[in-house]
Amino acid sequence: MERMYVDEEREALSGTAPSPSGKSTDRKLRESEEGFRLFVESVSDYAIFMLDTEGYIQTWNRGAQRLKGYQAEEIIGRHFSTFYPSSDLDNRKPERELEIAIRDGRVEDEGWRVRKDGTTFWASVVITALFGPDGTLRGFGKVTRDLTARKQTEDALRRVLEREREGAARLRELDQMKTEFVAIVAHDLRSPVHAVRGFVDMLLDRGEAMGEEQRRQVLEAIRRSSQTLAALIEDILEVSQIESGEFKIERTELDVGAVLRRAVAALEPSAAEREISIDVNERTPKAFADEQRTWQVMTNLLSNALKFSGTEGAVAAGVDPGPEGRHVIVWVRDDGVGVKPEDIPKLFQRFSRVGSQGGAKGTGLGLYICKRLVEAQGGTISVESEPEQGSTFSFTLPAFEEARV
Ligand SMILES: Nc1ncnc2c1ncn2[C@@H]1O[C@H](COP(=O)(O)OP(=O)(O)OP(=O)(O)O)[C@@H](O)[C@H]1O
Ligand SMILES: [Mg+2]
Repeated sequence: MERMYVDEEREALSGTAPSPSGKSTDRKLRESEEGFRLFVESVSDYAIFMLDTEGYIQTWNRGAQRLKGYQAEEIIGRHFSTFYPSSDLDNRKPERELEIAIRDGRVEDEGWRVRKDGTTFWASVVITALFGPDGTLRGFGKVTRDLTARKQTEDALRRVLEREREGAARLRELDQMKTEFVAIVAHDLRSPVHAVRGFVDMLLDRGEAMGEEQRRQVLEAIRRSSQTLAALIEDILEVSQIESGEFKIERTELDVGAVLRRAVAALEPSAAEREISIDVNERTPKAFADEQRTWQVMTNLLSNALKFSGTEGAVAAGVDPGPEGRHVIVWVRDDGVGVKPEDIPKLFQRFSRVGSQGGAKGTGLGLYICKRLVEAQGGTISVESEPEQGSTFSFTLPAFEEARV
C-alpha cells in the first residue's frame, strides 16, 4: 500500500531532535512551505485542493476556481460531493472514492462533474489519502483535470468508427441482397424465355401442320411471354434505380382525383369489359406529389385488383381527404381472392407472390415498388384484406398546403 505522509518532512526538519542551526532551518522551512503554497495556488490547469477527513473542502487554488467556477470563499467548508452529478450521489460515489483512497492510498476516476453554473465537464480526478506519521488519516489531496476536449474528440472518433462499422454491415447486407436478387431474377427470367423457345420450336417443327387459328394462339402465347419478360425487365430496372437512390421524384401541386381517372381510363382496354368505379371526394385537398409516380402506384394497385379478382369481380377506387386535411388518401378495392393475415407483412417485400393466384402471373415486385415510391413522396401504404372477401389497398400523399409549411 502506497501512503502519503504529511508533516513527515516538516517534523524531520523542524526537529523533534534540536539541531544546531534550528532557527534558520525553521525559516527555510516556512519559506519553502510558503513557496509551495503559492505554487499550488497559482496553478491554473489543475484544480488542486485539500479535503478534511470527512471530505469537506479546506483549500482552493486558481485551477479549481477556473474549472469549477467557485471562488475560494464560496466553496471552502462545503463538501466535495457538490461537484458530482446527482446520479453519482445516488450511487454514493463520492463516499466510495474516499473509502477506496483510504484503503489503497489513492483513487483515480474519470467522469462528469458539475460546475457552479450547472454545466458539466469531463474530469480526470486523483484523490490521495494523506496520513500523518502515526498512520492516522489527516485528509485528502484532490487533483482534477478538465478532459472535456479529449473526451469530445474520443467520442467523435468513436461515433465515426461506429458509423463506419454500420456502413460496412449495411454493405454486406446489400451484397447479400443483391446475390439473392440476381438468383431470383435469373429464375424469373428463365420461365418466359423457356416458354417463348418452346412455342417457337413448336412453330418451326409443326407450324405447317397447324391450322391458322392454332398458329395464332401460339403466337399470342409468345406475345404474352415476351410482354411478361419486358415487364419484368422494367420492374428490375426500376428496383435497381430505387435501391441505388437514383430515381427522381418531382413533386408539384397535384390533383390526385384527376390522376386516378386517367389511370383507370388507361387500364380500361385491358380490363376486359370490367368496369372500375371511381369515387373522388371533391373536398380532397391537392397533394404535393410526383404525378408520374402517383400514376404508377395507382396502375400497379388497379392491375393487382383486376388480376386477383375473378372475371366478374368488382373493382372500385377513390380519393378522400385524410384527417384534418393533412394528407390525401387513395384507395383501391376489389372483392377478389384476398390475402391471408399471415401473408400481409410479406406483401410489400420484393418478389413476394403469396398464396395461390389461380394462374395469375407477375413478378412480385409491383407492391415493393409501390411502397418505395409512396414513401419517397412522404406517404405510407397499407392494406386491409380477408381471404375470399377481397382487399383494399390504400396509400397517402402529403397535402400540398401541409407540405409547404
Ligand atoms: N388485390 C390483391 N388481392 C389479392 N392478393 C394480392 C392483391 N394485390 C397483391 N396481391 C398479392 O401480393 C403479391 C405481390 O403483389 P405485387 O404487385 O408485388 O406482385 P405481382 O402483382 O405478383 O407482380 P407484378 O406486380 O410485379 O407484376 C401478389 O402476387 C399477390 O399474391
Ligand atoms: Mg402487381
